[in-house]
Amino acid sequence: MKLWGGRFTGETNELVNEFNASISFDKKLYKHDITGSIAHAKMLGKQNIIPMEESDKIVEGLEGILSDIESGKLVIDDTYEDIHTFVEANLIERIGDAGKRLHTGRSRNDQVALDTRMYVREQIDVLSDNIRDFQDILLRIIKENTDTYMPGFTHLQKAQPVTVAHHFGAYFEMLIRDRDRLADCKKRLNYCPLGAGALAGTTYPLDREFTAKELKFTGPTRNSMDSVSDRDYLIEFLDAVAILMMHLSRFSEEICIWNSNDYNFVELDDAYSTGSSIMPQKKNPDIAELVRGKTGRVYGALMSVLTSMKAIPLAYNKDMQEDKEQLFDVVYTANMSVVLFAGMIDTMKFNKDIMENSAKLGFTNATDAADYLVKKGMPFRDAHEVIGKIVLFCIDNNKSIDELSMTELHAFSEVFDEDIYDAISLKTCVDSRITTGAPGRASMNKAIAYYEDYLS
Ligand code: ARG
Repeated sequence: MKLWGGRFTGETNELVNEFNASISFDKKLYKHDITGSIAHAKMLGKQNIIPMEESDKIVEGLEGILSDIESGKLVIDDTYEDIHTFVEANLIERIGDAGKRLHTGRSRNDQVALDTRMYVREQIDVLSDNIRDFQDILLRIIKENTDTYMPGFTHLQKAQPVTVAHHFGAYFEMLIRDRDRLADCKKRLNYCPLGAGALAGTTYPLDREFTAKELKFTGPTRNSMDSVSDRDYLIEFLDAVAILMMHLSRFSEEICIWNSNDYNFVELDDAYSTGSSIMPQKKNPDIAELVRGKTGRVYGALMSVLTSMKAIPLAYNKDMQEDKEQLFDVVYTANMSVVLFAGMIDTMKFNKDIMENSAKLGFTNATDAADYLVKKGMPFRDAHEVIGKIVLFCIDNNKSIDELSMTELHAFSEVFDEDIYDAISLKTCVDSRITTGAPGRASMNKAIAYYEDYLS
């Protein structure tokens, strides 16, 4: 059954049917489609555009279709062109002629714009909640690891000591921004396109404010041509997810490095790693690798929709049907990535001694050792030179700075005193970083208080 047979005399080419149909994927929108149609039918009745009894019959019929699909009694049949056709045909089968009045003052163009908007709106909440659950896990780890020392890196070279709490705090911040971007996208998309018709509105006295309110939109969209041809909200969503995936991918890369044999900073739980078919010793970080890999897929979806949209003249054109498979794939990929990544992090063990030792052996306290000399009156440039020479000596002798004896230190400068050892301990190095946003305990406690408040 087609919704547009009247004007045609010949049959549609079989391959055209296959190429044109979207039901195999847009059936995902059944709930949104039916909910939108219920609001439209109620409005048609209220406005006396169709008789009230028919409006009631339509609403009842649509509710029946929804519950039958959800219970599995009604299976969406892929021989229809799209989900809109399937629902309307099924309605007519159930309630007869009244069903034929549903599409009064409506086009599939405003219908599909409504369905995808409602879908994206709903999925923003689902994804945002999953990110929030991940943030709960991160905050637990942050609170437990305010004195788990590790090297902070620049250029993947050990730079200055930080803590696991501080390092994970950086990701907590990224996820705050990710959720903000999603919320912002939702605010902008929350206008109802229903009533825009094919492109130029309709001659029926539709109450667009009513349907917008019924469907929990801020209000109706303002321009009917824009309403049916706008996919900005979908692109913004893909963009926000692409950035989220970029964050997860960077985190994944770190997990792969930390889990490597030579780093050995962390151990992944058996539930979140996999083995090799040939090498019995292997325990691979596949989840991290897959999240990193799937980031490419999400970027691809964003590029795909941007490219499909870039030369479409106003108003609706069939090119836009290409948005849905990308959207659905991104929704699945992003939720799976967040949930599995969070599970992996939640069950991962930190090899705290190895992390701390790595910070010590990497001369991450060299800046602090120079600062020590400066505080004793030496100009910074000289102090930098002295510590540089000490580092060279340590490398030759396979020692860390704090392992040198007072006599060894005095060979480089008489300024050194017993208090040097405390001044360059990892604890002092970290805790004396007192600026806002730094890893020192005082600053970190403030950040933790903020995160607790944010999640409450
Ligand atoms: N399946 C179509 C889409 O996803 C629905 C809108 C069809 N409208 C039309 N005039 N052919 O975009």
